[in-house]
Amino acid sequence: MGPGDSEHLNTENLGTLDTGVDDGMGEHEFQVWTKLLKDRTGMNLPVQRKSFLVTSLDLRMNEIGCNSYEEYYDMLSSGISGEIEWKFLVDRLTVHETRFFRHKSSLDIVRKYAMEKVAGKDETVRLQLWSAGCSTGQEAYTLAMVLDQALKSRSGQTYFGIVATDISAPSIKTAQQALYNQRQVEKHVDSLLLDRYFEKQTDERFVITKELRNRICFAPMNIMNVSKEAIGEVDIVYCQNLLIYFDREKRFEIVNFMAELLKPGGIMILGSGEILAWKHPQMKLQDYPDSLVYKRQITMS
Ligand SMILES: C[S@@+](CC[C@H](N)C(=O)[O-])C[C@H]1O[C@@H](n2cnc3c(N)ncnc32)[C@H](O)[C@@H]1O
Repeated sequence: MGPGDSEHLNTENLGTLDTGVDDGMGEHEFQVWTKLLKDRTGMNLPVQRKSFLVTSLDLRMNEIGCNSYEEYYDMLSSGISGEIEWKFLVDRLTVHETRFFRHKSSLDIVRKYAMEKVAGKDETVRLQLWSAGCSTGQEAYTLAMVLDQALKSRSGQTYFGIVATDISAPSIKTAQQALYNQRQVEKHVDSLLLDRYFEKQTDERFVITKELRNRICFAPMNIMNVSKEAIGEVDIVYCQNLLIYFDREKRFEIVNFMAELLKPGGIMILGSGEILAWKHPQMKLQDYPDSLVYKRQITMS
């Protein structure tokens, strides 16, 4: 089986499996909450994750002194304060697991694409990427390091920029701060890159260099509402471990939208098996064993 053949269930994100124990939330109430989540974010919350939902709601309600799911639901639906509270809740209900250099094979594809793009050219080359569902920023900074390394020895000028988006406003804030602790950095970043792109703080944390930070524009955005104008045309869409939270129909919607943003010849790099049997007249599945990659065809006029 190759990429694209199966939509696998990513067990990293399942949380606690439902045990059948009475958790204080009836079936109807569970459906009301999952519908709210789906309507507002597009995300699918399967029954196996009910205990995760209940725990997240209970914790948050406890923090703000709210006594029932009903009261909390009404609060989320009322005006500006409801919108602010919704942001807190969404952050709790989304999984932000990420790390630097998370998926080496996909990063190799980015490197190869960039090198091919500039090969044999003396003129200025511009590359634009979108990291969709970037969490706390490690993915976008990794992409910037990969590109900077791949393009540094070129004689002509190269400009690259990355737009990185996530629904979680706190995650985006963390990404913008660009401060990571030793454990997050030293385990995953090669020492040469560590010296080149990180500065050690007096508190032992590492901050990404300004030069690399300037390459990335982080913005809180729900992927279901992202507009073409907000992202612009891109050479590479990099989207890993995000589609798994959506049902098939929403995955298709998202990927169709991503395809429309790609420049001719641009590529979309998804996690292996994250979408099944998707087809688009201008997109061609590429042959990579560990990543799901589609290329936008260059049409002759
Ligand atoms: C598991 S993380 C993946 C992070 C990174 N792409 C990686 O592979 O390391 C999934 C991210 O998707 C984000 N997310 C979930 N639903 C989203 C939505 N509707 N719009 C935008 N981002 C979303 C979550 O907030 C979370 O940070």
